[in-house]
Amino acid sequence: MDKTDVVEIRMDTRIVGRLALTKDHLCAFEYDTEFIKNGYSVSPYFLPLQQGLFVAKREPFLGGFGVFDDSLPDGWGNLILDRYLSQRGITPEKLTLLQRLSLVGSGGRGALEYFPDKSVSIETGLVDFDRLAAETEKILTSEYTGDYLDTLYKYGGSSGGARPKIFVKINEKYWLVKFKASIDPQNIGQMEYEYSLLARKCGINMPDTCLFENKYFGVERFDRTALGKIHTVSAAGLLNADYRIPSLDYSVLLKICFNLTRDMEEVYALFRLMVFNIAISNRDDHAKNFSFQYKNGVWKLSPAYDILPSTGFNGHHTTTVNGQGEPAMKDILLVASEAGIQKKRAGEIIEQVIETCRAENKLNRKI
Ligand SMILES: Nc1ncnc2c1ncn2[C@@H]1O[C@H](COP(=O)(O)OP(=O)(O)O)[C@@H](O)[C@H]1O
Ligand SMILES: [Mg+2]
Repeated sequence: MDKTDVVEIRMDTRIVGRLALTKDHLCAFEYDTEFIKNGYSVSPYFLPLQQGLFVAKREPFLGGFGVFDDSLPDGWGNLILDRYLSQRGITPEKLTLLQRLSLVGSGGRGALEYFPDKSVSIETGLVDFDRLAAETEKILTSEYTGDYLDTLYKYGGSSGGARPKIFVKINEKYWLVKFKASIDPQNIGQMEYEYSLLARKCGINMPDTCLFENKYFGVERFDRTALGKIHTVSAAGLLNADYRIPSLDYSVLLKICFNLTRDMEEVYALFRLMVFNIAISNRDDHAKNFSFQYKNGVWKLSPAYDILPSTGFNGHHTTTVNGQGEPAMKDILLVASEAGIQKKRAGEIIEQVIETCRAENKLNRKI
């Protein structure tokens, strides 16, 4: 692959800034002068909107910045990217972070785009879901590098998360469609769909969801609108937090939520999501499964996603509650009070979520 010395980062038509590598292979970033005048900080805790060079730390993103690491594929995306590159005689391990961002180009999640743009994504309405599902399974269970690899790469090569997935545009709406991972039960799509409906019933902000062909879970993308892309950063990206290990507590997340949004309604919404995750035992609540978005000049909590019961980190919640991986009611209440949520309000939210889950037979643990 061509050598890439500098990657220009854009949002819509605006130049946000430039990334280069130090001789120690750490990312160095500077904002564009125009963007400093009329833009905003794309990552308030690590990249304040000011002149000068920022140099990333080695950990936890191999010398990258959290906010840009968010654009890179993980799990599934990396697997097909690696095979796609190997097929072309490129050794994936030799790629620099800049080359990887360039491969994401204008096809990544959120609003950030990387130039030179080497992306090859497609968003077509004609999707053979069964065929794609069968091919993802072959890729997961063998060294398969057949013809369909290119198609899967184009549909979801820059996706995040572990499960196979694709991005598609159908009837003018942008969807993320997920397929089964090797360890998932056959009906995982149906399950995620049911939990998305339950989340909505519990008052959680969920995007539109559907079951394509009665099997494949689809969720409308919240980083795309008819008017353009929305800047979206995960908690991991904002805090430079390692999402592979427990690195976060809900009390910190709730504080960050208020600090960013300055809006207690957003804090209540995140607290509700926390209670819901505990109620259904979604222990895979790591720092990349929460995001914030910059919309109309303010930060907001993003809609919820990746909502499923899961064993998480050795049977514990990956984001802890008052330091506990398996929290009790007292931990939930303590975290609420630390976040400035009145006892009465916290109690109402807890009761509503628990009773709604119980009524649907999905209260998966005692609280
Ligand atoms: N509705 C959505 N709109 C935009 N981005 C999304 C949406 N749902 C998930 N994502 C992004 O895609 C990534 C992977 O999705 P996720 O549901 O977490 O998959 P997995 O089950 O593989 O972890 C998330 O980390 C998030 O960045
Ligand atoms: Mg996920």
